[in-house]
This record gives sequence, structure tokens and C-alpha cells, in this order.
Amino acid sequence: DFHAIIPAGGVGSRLWPLSRAEAPKFLHDLTGSGHTLLRDTWQRLLPLCGEDGITVVTGRAHRGAVEKQLPELRAQNIILETEPKDSSAAIGLAAAILHRRNPDVVIGSFAADHVISDAPRFRAAVAEAVAVARAGYITTIGITPTEPSVGFGYIRCGADLDVDGAPHAELVERFVEKPDLDTATAYVASGDYLWNAGMFIARADRLLAQLAETHPELHDGLLQMAEAWDTPKRDRVVDAIWPMLTKIAIDYSVAEPAAAAGRLAVVRGDFPWDDVGDFSSLAKLLSGGRTGDLAILGEGARVLADSSSGVVVSQSQRLISLIGVTDIVVVDTPDALLVTTREHAQRVKSVVDAIKLSG
Ligand code: GDD
Ligand code: MG
Repeated sequence: DFHAIIPAGGVGSRLWPLSRAEAPKFLHDLTGSGHTLLRDTWQRLLPLCGEDGITVVTGRAHRGAVEKQLPELRAQNIILETEPKDSSAAIGLAAAILHRRNPDVVIGSFAADHVISDAPRFRAAVAEAVAVARAGYITTIGITPTEPSVGFGYIRCGADLDVDGAPHAELVERFVEKPDLDTATAYVASGDYLWNAGMFIARADRLLAQLAETHPELHDGLLQMAEAWDTPKRDRVVDAIWPMLTKIAIDYSVAEPAAAAGRLAVVRGDFPWDDVGDFSSLAKLLSGGRTGDLAILGEGARVLADSSSGVVVSQSQRLISLIGVTDIVVVDTPDALLVTTREHAQRVKSVVDAIKLSG
């Protein structure tokens, strides 16, 4: 009774103009595999959960695109949001619905937009995490950090856990979501911290009980919706409750307090993991880490390059020509063009925020 949840909601604004509100990051092929990241996530989970055992939570606006990507997705396994309320609401509602259908269910939440290249090793880590979750812990997967990124949660590992089927499980001493740069730098230098890979595996009842401790109003709203979910009252109840829900990431509402209470565990993941947060990471991913290369992404991209490196993403039919530019980022879409450098790729988000403000 292990059931996967894929929350597919974020916009990925550091990947503008490729990732947009209408076509967020999870609906793109960022690896050149021919599949969107959402489809890759689904296929990675399929051997663990089967087609009946994967639920997707997404915005109403993305329903068509999600169903096109996942034609096997069961009608009862898609949860549509009227507006985004962040990951506590998305994952919490799925957990509450699944718990009503099966009180013993262990759920695992997996981001829709990560790149994981070794699926068997990923599944081995998840299988360990499921064993730890059955023993009662809320369980995360930890990744050895390579730089002091401020976009991640940090996990301080504690004592080894003695759980059958989980040789790599440790208790979490502390969970810190998105620390500032100085703190992240100290954490990475200490060697005592792992990155949180954005996956949460737990008995649904344990996850909901943890949420009830810090956010009882959110917990109660989710339970009321779950109760009405498989009945004719669903729409009326959801329309009344959803807009009132507290908007908070699950890392703050569940992971940080669970660690403080000694209820959070971590399994070290030894698979290659990348959240491809910006175009510099994309360049690195596509070129296999070789700097000096020019990576090109886009079906039928037409690029002429001389002495240039970085990444070109082409979604237009235009011929793109580069001469003597290094570490460049060019993203060409039918209605917007981005030119920056790998060094400044992180700042794309502020440009997008400025565009939003000016309308
Ligand atoms: N359906 C739905 N609705 N999904 C959502 C919503 C929402 O309102 N908000 C976020 N999500 C989904 C995202 O699509 C993603 O799959 C997952 O929840 C995590 O949200 P992000 O917004 O991508 O979080 P993050 O990247 O800033 O941080 C999380 O992931 C990091 C690893 O990539 C945290 O868990 C960090 O601790 C972690 O290191
Ligand atoms: Mg993310």
C-alpha cells in the first residue's frame, strides 16, 4: 500500500521565457529525452506504484496538458486546484483523500520537475524510505551537497536508525528550509548536512497528524474536503474551503517541526539528482559538466556557432548565430527572447517579477 503523489504546480520562473504560467517547467523536455519532466517522473515511479498508485495534483488550467502527457492516469487519481496554495495544501489534500480510501496507506511525494538519471538507484532509495515510513517516521531523501545553494532545504543527520530493509536510514537532527548564503556555506563546509531532495515519504496518518500540530486550521480544511471528495458534495465543499487555506510550503509546516520533534528521518540517495533550477544548471546538465561546450536544446533548432559556449534553447524556427561569446545563455521563444550569461542566470527571476509588476 505505497501510493505516489506528484505535486505539479510551481512556475519555475528562473527558467523564463521557456517556463511560463501556461507551460511550467514540468511540461518541458529539459534533457532532450523526448519526454517532459512530468512524464519522466511518472515512468520513474511506475515500477514502484503501478498506474493505479500514482496521483497528480495540479492546477485546473493544466488539466489538458497533464492528461495528454499521462494518458494512463486514472480519473480518480487527478486532483485539480482552483488556485495554487503551495505544497502543504497540494500534498496534504492528496494524503487526506488517500487516507480515507486506505487508512494504512504510505504516501510518497515526488516533485514533478527534477532530473534523476539512475532510476533503479532512485527506486532503491525510495524502497528504503518506505520501510522507514512504515516504522512511523516522516522520511526524506538526502543528497550530498556540491555548493551552498540557498534554494534548498538542509538536513543535519543524527543517529543511525535500526529499521529492517533500510541500511542507510538516519534520524534527522535538524531541518532548515532555504537558509541564507552564509548559513548554507557553513553547512556545506561542515560536511554534516545533506540537501533535501524534495521528496517526503510517510504514513498518511503520521503526515496529517504532524500538520495538525502546527497548522490545525489547514489540517481541518483538508480533512473536510477529503471527506466530501468521493461524494456529490465535493465541488461545493472545495469551493468554500480552498480559497481560505493557509499558503505554506510543506518544508516549513511538516519537515522543520517533525525534525524538532525527533520524527523526521533521512535516507541518503546515491543517485544523480538535479533540480535544474536555472539555465546555468541546464547548461551543465546538457553538456555533461564540460565547460567550453555549447549545449543546444529544442527540436529542429537551427544554430550556427563559432568559438562560443553556454546554452541555446530554441523554440522558434529562427536561425540563431553566435560568434565568440562564452558562457552565454540564449533562450528564443516565439514571443520573448532572453540573452544573459551563465553567471547571471539566477537573476532571471527578478526580471520576471519586474515584468509581472509592470503588467
Ligand atoms: N499542485 C501544486 N500546487 N504543486 C505545488 C504547489 C502548488 O501550489 N506549490 C509547489 N508545488 C510543487 C512543485 O511543483 C514541486 O513539485 C514541489 O511542490 C516543490 O515545490 P517548489 O516550489 O519546487 O519548491 P522548491 O524547489 O522551492 O523547494 C523544495 O524542493 C527543493 C528541492 O528541489 C523544498 O522541498 C526544498 O527543501 C528542496 O531542497
Ligand atoms: Mg523546486
